[in-house]
Amino acid sequence: MYVHVVSRQSKVERSIMVAKMAASIAERGEDAFRKVFKFYKRRKPPPDFSEVIDFSKKSANELVFAAELDHDSLGEEAAYRAGLRPVKDWRAFGLQGYPGFMFISNPFLPGSQQYWVKQCLKTYPQKPNVCNLDMHMPPTETVDIWGKSIDSFQKKGTRDPKTLLEKLRWVTLGYHYNWDTKTYSAEQRSPFPADLHALSRSITAVCGFPGFAAEAGILNYYRSDSSLGIHVDEAELDHTWPLLSFSFGQTAVFLLGGTKRQDPPTAMFTRSGDVMVMSGPSRLLYHAVPCLVSAPTAQPLPLCLGPPPADRAPADGLVQAVTEGDWEVCSRYLLTSRVNMTIRQVLGPGQTFEAAHSGAAGHAKFRRGYDDERSAEATPNSKKSRSGAGHQLH
Ligand code: OGA
Ligand code: MN
Repeated sequence: MYVHVVSRQSKVERSIMVAKMAASIAERGEDAFRKVFKFYKRRKPPPDFSEVIDFSKKSANELVFAAELDHDSLGEEAAYRAGLRPVKDWRAFGLQGYPGFMFISNPFLPGSQQYWVKQCLKTYPQKPNVCNLDMHMPPTETVDIWGKSIDSFQKKGTRDPKTLLEKLRWVTLGYHYNWDTKTYSAEQRSPFPADLHALSRSITAVCGFPGFAAEAGILNYYRSDSSLGIHVDEAELDHTWPLLSFSFGQTAVFLLGGTKRQDPPTAMFTRSGDVMVMSGPSRLLYHAVPCLVSAPTAQPLPLCLGPPPADRAPADGLVQAVTEGDWEVCSRYLLTSRVNMTIRQVLGPGQTFEAAHSGAAGHAKFRRGYDDERSAEATPNSKKSRSGAGHQLH
């Protein structure tokens, strides 16, 4: 009898426990990531940023630790030529619970961020690279986006309502990511910019990935009200190589989640010059950018976006000086914008699209992530893309 009662009680207890677990799973299943995303995307009232990890602060968070770097893979001279500080001066961090994730707090030398910003605004949007405006406009109109936009940036006071530069949302480099099929292909490809390849190769080598080949790039242009939806970058055929991400201009909140949509994400600030590396177990984690921090008023640009010091020897390397005229346009643009470059290696050594698609490598899917919300829309107001989700750049 006694035994019987106990066993009945334990059954009840067990069923309560199961119910509680189900409730908590349901709560998680109700998409913890989306909840956090919405929390930071909210405008009125503005969200509380006190829980956001700030790697630029000395003691950022108890989950943050110093990451190990391969100092020998990039000599001081080579770093200088690439516009980077000596590796011994880099502030690189890992995050507990996210093996393979690395955050490098602005490794750029003063003055060299200007070059990459200019490349993103003036050079990389040019043909044969592909941009969102190409989806809606004839090629004659998307030629010379920079030239067609700068007058408005140079004029004080009244501005055109929207220049092409302000309508730019993404540019693809190398293997051009196809937003509809969520794949890369051998056919849709143009040469990857040599300067960006060299920069990416140097940084990934320091992070323990010598031999990285930058084969595809997605550049994201965030206006003050933009966000990038929750997604995983999985279109690349080889996931053993890291994903490299650069931030320029206004500060954003970056959310790094788990392998499931239900896993709650960790929020961190990403500031001008910061570099993130997603590798190993962190390569295929959900992530998103819910907001820029500066929105909606213009913020003064951080000092790290200033010109190189006058006594700096002219670099005979990668990074060239940006003219004052060009920087005037770039800096005005950046007052309310953020530019992000994400660099990917698509294929493993000796891998081809044909072999991978034939299923030999066991790649059942080549999707960037079903919840990728990047659209081909040219107007920032449009909420939906042609494929039913709005690139972020909502
Ligand atoms: C991406 C991406 C993040 C960012 O382009 O895939 O995740 O910081 N970008 O803008
Ligand atoms: Mn991504």
